[in-house]
Parts: sequence; structure tokens; C-alpha cells
Amino acid sequence: MNEYREIEVSALHPKIGGKLDGIDLQENISDEVREKIHEQWMRFMVLVFPNQAISDEQHIAFGRKFGELEVHPSVAHRSSRNKEIYRVSNVDEAGEIIPQETASWQYLNLTWLWHTDSSFRQIPSLGSILHGIETTRSGGNTLFANLCESYEALSDSQKSEIQDLWVIHDHDYILSLSPELSKIPEKGDYTPMPQVRHPLVRIHPVTQRKSIFISPHTMVGIEGMSEKDGRGLLDELIEHATQEKFVYKHQWQNDDIVMWDNRCTMHCVEPYDNTTTRRIMHRVTIVGEEKPIPG
Ligand code: SIN
Repeated sequence: MNEYREIEVSALHPKIGGKLDGIDLQENISDEVREKIHEQWMRFMVLVFPNQAISDEQHIAFGRKFGELEVHPSVAHRSSRNKEIYRVSNVDEAGEIIPQETASWQYLNLTWLWHTDSSFRQIPSLGSILHGIETTRSGGNTLFANLCESYEALSDSQKSEIQDLWVIHDHDYILSLSPELSKIPEKGDYTPMPQVRHPLVRIHPVTQRKSIFISPHTMVGIEGMSEKDGRGLLDELIEHATQEKFVYKHQWQNDDIVMWDNRCTMHCVEPYDNTTTRRIMHRVTIVGEEKPIPG
């Protein structure tokens, strides 16, 4: 049987995001379906699979179809049952909203900043798959920016200005961006990560498209530039890349699965009242296959 005939594909935004109906992620998908998903993923960069009440184990099995899975450096956010599940949740495993004075609650607020997952690693993540378990419509949407389109929209002189630049990324920079976390001596338990450098322009290994590689929550500065000039250039690029025309906003329904390509997109969460509103999201993060290819 050609299972792909059952799959319906629709675009969610002119530049980024597609929806796939007709796939049941509770089932072990065949190689043929995996290939079709991959094809649409490379086309849309962000894929939404509505109505998928999967278990963490099924989530992990689906993620492994696309590569090995990372274990997140923040120990407090790993699921105690499956270390590959990163709990992007303001609710703890006992079902209680996490107190706002704790480091783990503060750390979570940093997902409200634009970022690409694991940009602090030598080999950043290939992609991520997020399961909306308990979602909210009062904020808490996730925004995804297409970084190939924003690269292509730069003028020739802007492209040559950024062509051979390298950016320093650091996991601990994330912590310094939180005024509250900066004040807490006990910032949480994180696997130590050395600083890394990544090209500001990278080439996607599958589509060969060039993109800006920016991840505002880990970018310390640009190699060889003063802090002020480096920051100024990065801030201009962030503003350019996050224009509405490059961004898809995902409004969550419970049991949506959203899968994105970290090699050519960045994302952030729209703020919501996380002192009272529950939001439980589980993520698996696919290990990158190679260092970013300089563009
Ligand atoms: C993330 O940054 O990976 C989480 C996004 C979300 O919670 O919507």
C-alpha cells in the first residue's frame, strides 16, 4: 500500500511552515512515510502534525527516525523517566506549577528569547520535535523565523559584510541574559559546555540554501570585532530576521507535534502568565550530523 497517498499537505505561511494530516505517530512509521515527512520538512522547515496523543516513548521513537537524540545540559529540565525528553514546562513532574524564585523556572523564561536549539554545542542540533501536552491560548504561541529567506533578502553589500564572520556562542551567556538568574547564586545543575565559534552564514547540507546563523540567546559577540560593533551588527540581523514576513506563529492545540529544522530557523515562545497558566511541552532534540558549513 502507498501510505503517502493518505497524507495531506498544506502550507501554513507563505515562507515557512506546513501541516501534515493523515499520519498517526502512535504507529511505527515506515521508511516510505519517513522519507515523505523528510521531503516536506526540507520544503517547509517547520512541520505541524495535529492531534497526536503520543507517549514520550513514541515521541522518542519518532525522533530517532531522524537521528540520535540529545540529552539537554540542564539537569532540572530532563524527564526523570527518559533523559532524551527535555521538559519545556512550568509544571513539575508532580503536576505543580514551579515556584518562580527557582532557577529552573527562570531558565525556562529564556525560551521567550529568539534562539536555535543547542547553538552552544560544537555541532548544534539538526532539528527538534515538540509535543504540546498542556497548551494555552493566552500567549505561549511559538514563533519560527525562516533564516534562509532573511539571508536572501539582504542586499549584496550586507551579504558580503557578513560573509566570513564567525560568532562566539556560549551556553552560560543564556544565564547572564536573565536579570533574575544573574542574582541567584545557585543557577542550577548544567553539564559544562566550552565556548564555541560558528559561521554567521551557513549552508544547509540538504537544500544547499544559505542562511544567517543567529541564536540570540547564546551569541556573545563576533570574532575580531569590538563588543559594541559586534553587538550592533547582530542586533540589526536579529531585527531583520524576525520581521513578520519571515515568521510563522504557531497557536497550539493540545497534542500538536511541531518539528523544526534548527539549521535554517530560529524560534521563541510568546510570553504568557507562567505564574498561574500551566504549559507542558516535551521536546526531543536531534543531534547534528556535522559542524555548520560556512557559507
Ligand atoms: C523551545 O524553545 O524549544 C520550546 C518552544 C516552546 O516551548 O514552544
